[in-house]
Amino acid sequence: MSDATNTAATSTTQMPGKAEDPAVQVGRLGYVSFTTPDVDRLKEYYTKTLGFALVEESPDLVFLTTGSDHHCVVIEKADVASGRQSIGYEIAGSLSDARRRLSAIGLESELRSDIGPGTPQVLVLDEAETGTPVHLYESQTPSGVGATFDQRPTKLGHVAAYTTSTDNMRAFYQEALGFRWSDTVGDFFVFLRCNSMHHSANFIQSDNFSGMHHIAYEARDMNHLQTMLDTLARDDYSLFWGPGRHTAGHNVFTYHTDPDGHTIELYTQMDVMTNEELGYFDERPWHEQHPMYPQTWEVDLGMLNKWGPSLGEFPR
Ligand SMILES: [Fe+2]
Repeated sequence: MSDATNTAATSTTQMPGKAEDPAVQVGRLGYVSFTTPDVDRLKEYYTKTLGFALVEESPDLVFLTTGSDHHCVVIEKADVASGRQSIGYEIAGSLSDARRRLSAIGLESELRSDIGPGTPQVLVLDEAETGTPVHLYESQTPSGVGATFDQRPTKLGHVAAYTTSTDNMRAFYQEALGFRWSDTVGDFFVFLRCNSMHHSANFIQSDNFSGMHHIAYEARDMNHLQTMLDTLARDDYSLFWGPGRHTAGHNVFTYHTDPDGHTIELYTQMDVMTNEELGYFDERPWHEQHPMYPQTWEVDLGMLNKWGPSLGEFPR
């Protein structure tokens, strides 16, 4: 077992934490889409095990939500299972302004009205490095789904993906989409926020892997997380890591895999920065430093889990 107390961090900043005047200001993560050869199996996992609400479906397309948004997960039938086929972000301001400002920094985008239900107008552009379609929208139509207090997550929290260059991806997210830098682990794992939450997007640099690394759904507190985990166990889904507490972000985490093999994180207690002007995360008793500024964490596998044990070699 790694020594979870052997944590260390430096205050190295490779580039400014935010762009002075980003083209777009993303306000929050909205949705992510998956492909799967077995739509019914993945739908059952999301609705029965995770407790998502089914909003709309056809034989080959399913829209799921955790709340008032029309959807936060889209499942589409295809020959091969794949995560993060597209990613949707809600923006502040208008799509027409966004398109004009993106064009001014050399990024072409297309305004479309045929993406699907719930998002009548979507501005589509290619993500740097990966080419993944990024969908920007002003709002979603309401799902009509009411609140529950069962295992259903409170929201889609973040999506982590591989990239060939975290520097290029970070520049794209900061300068084009208005994200701010929250933390980096070593020189290969960067965390970016678009609102007070520590991260809504994170990227791992790799020459060996591509695509989605994991997707994370939020529990409102530890009791809710326990309900989620007992429901996973009821349906024979086992954790492969956790519960534990991360250092970067300080969220209590658990990881398991969905029926298609995608890594799913269920988490709670992520760091928040309620005051961007102060520039540090709200104080928590488990923080290593006070105040807790964004920083570069030294690579130490033990530091990935303050409670231990480590996962072992980090796959990248
Ligand atoms: Fe995560």
